[in-house]
Amino acid sequence: MTDVGAPMAKSSAVVQIGGLGSTQRRDAWWVEIVPVAILLGGFGIYATFRAFEGKFYAWGPYLSPFYSPLIDPMHHWWRFSPALLILAGPLGFRATCYYYRKAYYRAFFLDPPACAVSEGGREAYRGETRFPFILQNLHRWFLYVAFIFLAFLWWDAIRAFFFPEGFGIGVGSLVLLANIVLLTLYTLSCHSLRHLAGGKLDCFSCTSFGPTRYTAWRSLNGLNARHMLFAWMSLISVGLADLYVRMVSAGLLKDIRLL
Ligand code: FES
Repeated sequence: MTDVGAPMAKSSAVVQIGGLGSTQRRDAWWVEIVPVAILLGGFGIYATFRAFEGKFYAWGPYLSPFYSPLIDPMHHWWRFSPALLILAGPLGFRATCYYYRKAYYRAFFLDPPACAVSEGGREAYRGETRFPFILQNLHRWFLYVAFIFLAFLWWDAIRAFFFPEGFGIGVGSLVLLANIVLLTLYTLSCHSLRHLAGGKLDCFSCTSFGPTRYTAWRSLNGLNARHMLFAWMSLISVGLADLYVRMVSAGLLKDIRLL
């Protein structure tokens, strides 16, 4: 898999030649989309189940990332799972991510299934210039929302080291810490953030904040090159962190104290 960002929007009509999957490629191009479909599909099913479950999301100092920040856990004014109150933030950020767009357009919409593989004949191709896909442009705004969630998740990770009897380290503390580190790397490697730092500029040294922006842009470039890696690692870590808290909370697993 290679991270080449989102499919480009085209406004002109394009006529596809050949049916779905027709190509002159001779390699096993479909191998690339199978793990994406399994991983993204599996995560989607698990996350949906957990978001609606509404229990087993906290134990001791641990809080599942699917439920953070925790709003109205006592159900004073919201009858349903607290996770549903905050779902739109992380879901919107992931769903509009340039890398994930490429991944799920290929794996689930087969549009196209891979580079140089036909998605089938059609009259016109409008890319992301019309509803609903034009909403993908909201990604830059979801980035700001993601930073708010990161702040809460860092707070949760720090709190996971403070047990009723004082400072300590449990396996869950390390799981939540690893998760927020990976989520931070995923967010800092975002294409929109890189653009925010260094985009819309022809000359770094010609503006007052140019040198600062240049330094930020150079630093973010290194992370941005690994965005796909961080996207997958953080997706898996969120799922595993929630699973760990769920199992400990449900009494299916005993948290091991290391300190
Ligand atoms: Fe993937 Fe922004 S491009 S999080």
